[in-house]
Amino acid sequence: MIVVIDFGSQFNQLIARRVREHNVYCQVEPANIPIDRIKALNPKGIILSGGPSSIYEKDSPAVDKSLFDLGVPVLGICYGMHSMIHALGGEIRRAKKREYGFARLQIKSDSLLFKDMPSEFQCWMSHGDSAGTLPEGFEVTAATENTPIAAVAHPEKQFYGLQFHPEVEHSINGSLMIKHFLFDVCRCEKNWTMDSFSEGAIEQIKDAVKDKKVIMGLSGGVDSSVAATLIHKAIGKNLHCIFVDNGLLRHNEKTQLEKRLGNNLDMNIRFVDAAQTFLDALKGVTDPETKRKIIGNEFIKVFEAEARKIPGAAFLGQGTLYPDIIESKSAFGGPTSIIKSHHNVGGLPEKMQLKLIEPLQLLFKDEVRKLGLALGIHEDLVWRQPFPGPGLAIRIMGEITAKRLDILRQTDVILLEEIRKAGLYRKLWQSFAVLLPIKSVGVMGDKRTFAHCVAIRAVTSNDAMTADWARLPHDLLGKISNRMINEVEDINRVVYDITSKPPGTIEWE
Ligand code: XMP
Repeated sequence: MIVVIDFGSQFNQLIARRVREHNVYCQVEPANIPIDRIKALNPKGIILSGGPSSIYEKDSPAVDKSLFDLGVPVLGICYGMHSMIHALGGEIRRAKKREYGFARLQIKSDSLLFKDMPSEFQCWMSHGDSAGTLPEGFEVTAATENTPIAAVAHPEKQFYGLQFHPEVEHSINGSLMIKHFLFDVCRCEKNWTMDSFSEGAIEQIKDAVKDKKVIMGLSGGVDSSVAATLIHKAIGKNLHCIFVDNGLLRHNEKTQLEKRLGNNLDMNIRFVDAAQTFLDALKGVTDPETKRKIIGNEFIKVFEAEARKIPGAAFLGQGTLYPDIIESKSAFGGPTSIIKSHHNVGGLPEKMQLKLIEPLQLLFKDEVRKLGLALGIHEDLVWRQPFPGPGLAIRIMGEITAKRLDILRQTDVILLEEIRKAGLYRKLWQSFAVLLPIKSVGVMGDKRTFAHCVAIRAVTSNDAMTADWARLPHDLLGKISNRMINEVEDINRVVYDITSKPPGTIEWE
């Protein structure tokens, strides 16, 4: 296994994911991990992540220097490289300005990390400080125009440093460098697969839950479905699922879930129809954050009332993924700026004195899909595009009414039908319709119309942390627009959203 030491980079879990993509188990640990704990983990290699700090800042994170005496290979990335050089007696130069974005990497000397690579290619930089003088035994293995020491190696001790970020997709050959570190330097074995993950997770759940009951909210999406299936495999009938119909779901949501999970797995699922309660609570509300808060609170009320009907529940299962965590917490556990208050059942565990079971919290979406398939979940469910907890409410700009929900549902069905027909459903991270708060003038059948406008949103992404607008074929956009206007009463204009994330977000509210 590989230990990733977390210096607070927004990319530290991405490093873990890259390692796991090569079927090697990997664990992220805090920078202040005691050296004995590292020894006990017996890693084949250690990766020091990047981070927002400068070595020279007071209280900047540092590892115990004896980490470098363990005889274990180390790869330092960005701040991780600075930390290693500094710990071993080298010098780090303070930045006059940050270097951010693409750079051409020029390989300067043989390094196992750069095996079978061309002498020059693109890498992605994001740093302030940079390496100045190197400790004894280190050599410079690559440079860029602005950064003469862009990669270093101490071949004898098997210490490597990269100033750029090999874990991000923009660094060409980055994943290959990590692969070389894992197999050529650390001599890892390929023994971590979704099957082995699920076996381990099932055992852990059994151990933690024993003969107690777990309750869990099902949303119809892939995350909660996979988490529930995993928990169900571990404890069977002691898992009690609750599906709340908040009236903000898409067409057919409940039927699909019943067909794909309930019947197949013989899972306990309670369906609660709370549509009217939610609509009443949302009456007249137009502010996005207020909508989210109301929906979150109502959900907790309904869920709690239903959960109380299951006596003796000791645990709450959740399908939390890693990106859900990173958008609301920093790597050190403190709050960073909350971009949107994502709806979840926060607060419920304390109130009902339930312990959390979150078997997917280290996984990214694509890993969860692989796990879902390994668990035998139906492809339609595994490949469902994500759908937010507050549902259609955050895709209706302005007030939510039964009529506006109906309009949006109809346009959504058309959009998804056409996207599926074009063979694009799985290629897109999400594709959906948004009902705008404006009406515009049109002309239909010689008559002037003044009707609603719908926006189409379709994005590609790997993990929802960043996204690009999808370059959908113009003919497809034309067909969707035609159908929406012809088939849905009260729609006379369709527009396409060409904003990526950042600066936009995927949802409109
Ligand atoms: P944004 O709009 O923040 O969305 O770029 C990122 C991803 O999260 C989904 N999303 C939510 N999921 N509760 C959820 O469960 C929420 O409140 C929520 N808001 C956004 C969104 O659909 C996208 O996949």
